[in-house]
Amino acid sequence: MKLKLRPEEENDYRLVEELTREAFWNVYFPGCNEHFLIHNLRKASEFVKELDFIALHNNQIVGNIVYVEAKIKGNDKEHTVLTFGPISVLPEYQNRGIGGELINHTIKLSGEMGYKAILIYGDPEYYKRFGFKESKAFNITNKDGKYPAALLVFELYPEALNGITGIFDEGSIYEIDENEFEEFEKGFVEKEKFVTKSQERFIEIANKYL
Ligand SMILES: CC(C)(COP(=O)(O)OP(=O)(O)OC[C@H]1O[C@@H](n2cnc3c(N)ncnc32)[C@H](O)[C@@H]1OP(=O)(O)O)[C@@H](O)C(=O)NCCC(=O)NCCS
Repeated sequence: MKLKLRPEEENDYRLVEELTREAFWNVYFPGCNEHFLIHNLRKASEFVKELDFIALHNNQIVGNIVYVEAKIKGNDKEHTVLTFGPISVLPEYQNRGIGGELINHTIKLSGEMGYKAILIYGDPEYYKRFGFKESKAFNITNKDGKYPAALLVFELYPEALNGITGIFDEGSIYEIDENEFEEFEKGFVEKEKFVTKSQERFIEIANKYL
């Protein structure tokens, strides 16, 4: 499949929010809020515009990935790292390598931009194929001082995290104000919310890895 990747532009914002809503709808819980999340992330100071990429197939936007800066908080020092998400591929285009291309392309770019590492919460079975490793290997914990298997680390150059340990902190930018979200959601076409198998699978994964 012929795919083109390019940075997201302001003209793409609405379409990307619709795409994000399509990709996440009913996947993790009935409905989704990731389209509101991306709407807010773009306005945050931690947002990394240079790593906000879309994938196009025949001029249609079929995928998107966004990155923000986060911190590893050590005893006496904070270190800036990256985290990504939401990452979305239109349902009818999933499992054709588009998500993989977006991830690999932006990993390469992140390294070129001089960042040390990317830390994410994700399904280890999916992200290990890109080279993400468990945070325990780096002595980096979540805010509760634990090493959940879903907390994954990608070092962007050899030994980039040498001497860097501590707590991974994404701040509060992934938090959603439910009232604001309700208002935002009114601007989209109505979609039916229901319980799905993927939601059951997500609960299993969350119980296993978080
Ligand atoms: C997750 C997502 C971005 C992956 O993009 P994609 O283009 O479908 O993925 P690719 O084609 O590059 O990779 C497909 C492979 O990843 C696997 N995979 C995809 N999503 C996965 C997940 N959440 N957990 C585990 N494996 C997953 C597929 O089973 C497939 O495996 P295979 O190669 O062994 O057959 C896309 O499926 C999507 O938008 N999902 C809904 C939103 C979402 O869950 N986003 C991620 C959380 S932020």
